[in-house]
Amino acid sequence: MASQGLFISFEGIDGAGKSTHIDALAQAFRAQGRAVTLTREPGGTPLAEKLRVLVLNDAMDAMTEALLVFAARRDHLQQLIEPALARGDVVLCDRFTDATFAYQGGGRGFNLETLSFLERTVQSVQGLEPDLIRNPDLTVWFDLAAEIAAQRLAGARSPDKFEAEPVEFFRRVSDGYRQRMTACPQRFARIEAHQTREAVWHDVLHAVQAKGWLA
Ligand code: TYD
Repeated sequence: MASQGLFISFEGIDGAGKSTHIDALAQAFRAQGRAVTLTREPGGTPLAEKLRVLVLNDAMDAMTEALLVFAARRDHLQQLIEPALARGDVVLCDRFTDATFAYQGGGRGFNLETLSFLERTVQSVQGLEPDLIRNPDLTVWFDLAAEIAAQRLAGARSPDKFEAEPVEFFRRVSDGYRQRMTACPQRFARIEAHQTREAVWHDVLHAVQAKGWLA
């Protein structure tokens, strides 16, 4: 049975400025009477949040990183996302599998076919049609040049393992997102994240309204 809920993910390199807009979108849905589950990856459940601490702080090779984010994702899907979608919630998720293709695939250069295998395996969901995997209904990608993101992050709170990466890393991460969008353009809304906060919010809202999900 297809779920009645809505699954929206938010992506972008570190410093692209997604957070305030995710909160604002949650408000907008609630104002129209929708129940909203606000969550993030890696994380969203007690187990996945423990894995997040490891992934964001401990040095490890790209395969270990990929396996940990997918382990966290599996728990997150089973414990939180699928039940929320089954209830009819709007699930707003700060990052999902596109981040794995962008960071571990693009940034670290980890094998994309292995990531695709993990995606198919981890995101296969009982009740979905065979061959379908759980992916967002819409992915809002905050596209920002790596140089601008680096300027925004400079001087901010102490960086985690990813935020400490050089600008070339984030160029590869951006390329990773671009490839994911090219492979699945109808799922993505690309937002020009260098604009003023008001203009970015306008575009985010418009992307959701264009789907007919918000008045
Ligand atoms: P982020 O979402 O930016 O949270 P915060 O605003 O608290 O820094 O941090 C999550 C980091 O994890 C981000 O640098 C991207 C990285 N990440 C991966 O490398 N792979 C993944 O699959 C996911 C979901 C995140």
